[in-house]
Amino acid sequence: MHADLLIHSAAQLLTLASPAGPKRGAAMQDLGIIEDGAVAVAEGEIIAVGTTAELRATVQARREIDAAGRVVMPGFVDPHTHLVFAGSREDEFELRLKGATYMEIMAAGGGIMNTVRRTRAASEEELAAQAMPRLRRMLAHGTTTAEAKSGYGLTTADELKMLRVVDRLAGQQPVELVPTFLGAHAVPAEYAGRADAYVELVIEEMLPAVAAYYREQGRSLPFCDVFCEDGAFSLEQSRRILEAARGMGFPLKIHVDEFQPLGGTRLAVELGAVSADHLVCTPAEEIALLARSNTIAVSLPGTPFGLAHPAYTPARAIIDQGGALALATDLNPGTCYCESMPFMLALACRYMKLWPAEAISAATINAAHAIRMGHRVGSIEKGKQADIIILDLPNYRHLPYRFGTNPVQMVIKRGQVVV
Ligand code: NIG
Ligand code: FE
Repeated sequence: MHADLLIHSAAQLLTLASPAGPKRGAAMQDLGIIEDGAVAVAEGEIIAVGTTAELRATVQARREIDAAGRVVMPGFVDPHTHLVFAGSREDEFELRLKGATYMEIMAAGGGIMNTVRRTRAASEEELAAQAMPRLRRMLAHGTTTAEAKSGYGLTTADELKMLRVVDRLAGQQPVELVPTFLGAHAVPAEYAGRADAYVELVIEEMLPAVAAYYREQGRSLPFCDVFCEDGAFSLEQSRRILEAARGMGFPLKIHVDEFQPLGGTRLAVELGAVSADHLVCTPAEEIALLARSNTIAVSLPGTPFGLAHPAYTPARAIIDQGGALALATDLNPGTCYCESMPFMLALACRYMKLWPAEAISAATINAAHAIRMGHRVGSIEKGKQADIIILDLPNYRHLPYRFGTNPVQMVIKRGQVVV
């Protein structure tokens, strides 16, 4: 058979093969490793996977890449980012180091609203220009597909502006972007004390406008997400928004239990959300419910690290009870200004006691399922998109074991070498 590209002689080819869906529980330990592995690509798709000897016998390739001594694996999928925002908040970082808490800063008009003011003032061009270097860093660190949320506009026009910026960015660089509408990220200052009126605005005006924007282009609807938290949206308000969104056909995500346990994880399971994200202070009963459900647990270890908080997602309990766990950066200017999925793996192994193989499953195939992209990306299997990275590491355990430098040597998106 003829191929455009043959990557061969990998010390370890991590296929992450998982045809039945996300990896749950003990299956997360299985990376589907092929030693002396090879993968053949034609027209942006994977057409064969096997040992170098097997593929050499059957494939004639126009171009070859020798991955000798290195790890070849699927590109990382980052299923939770706030990629688009204006400005930065290093001043709040310093205030926190001096003792202020994230929620105190938010209650005083800083935090998310700080970024909202600057995002509202920025044009689409400015927002795209500010996000572009972040996307370049994501790609350089091996991320080939990412979710990107709105949520710093908080008016119908500014939320649509953010979603248009995501579209614009998707067409300008290789990282594939999956949009999420997060109009319920914070109650904006002009609705202070009138949170229910803002919830009405989200339901009556924003959701229909967002749905119309995608439907007019013949596209499927983005995710709808809510920040369910004291100081943001209550459990009841979150339920109202998510039920309305579900009724209109939006797939659901939810920020839960980042600081206070409000019951959001139970709500996510009840509503059949695609993912429940953060999960830092989730009670044991809700962890058990989540682990038995089809809702993917998305852990964001860069957030407690970024805030210098001691508590992380009880990821061992989720996996040991048979759940499907994914990892993401949460890239945002407040709690985690970090584009690197390899760093998230390093944190997950140390602070949540994930094993190296589990962390890799969480950052690839399970992360793909957390944004409903598992049929196309997240593993190296015949018929899937050729999103492949080559790491300058001798085996997979080196990936979380080492940290603070970038192990990614080459990035291939849809069969094209892009880094
Ligand atoms: O996921 N929790 C809410 N949203 C972000 C933080 C956003 C910000 O501080 O700008 C998060 O941590
Ligand atoms: Fe977030």
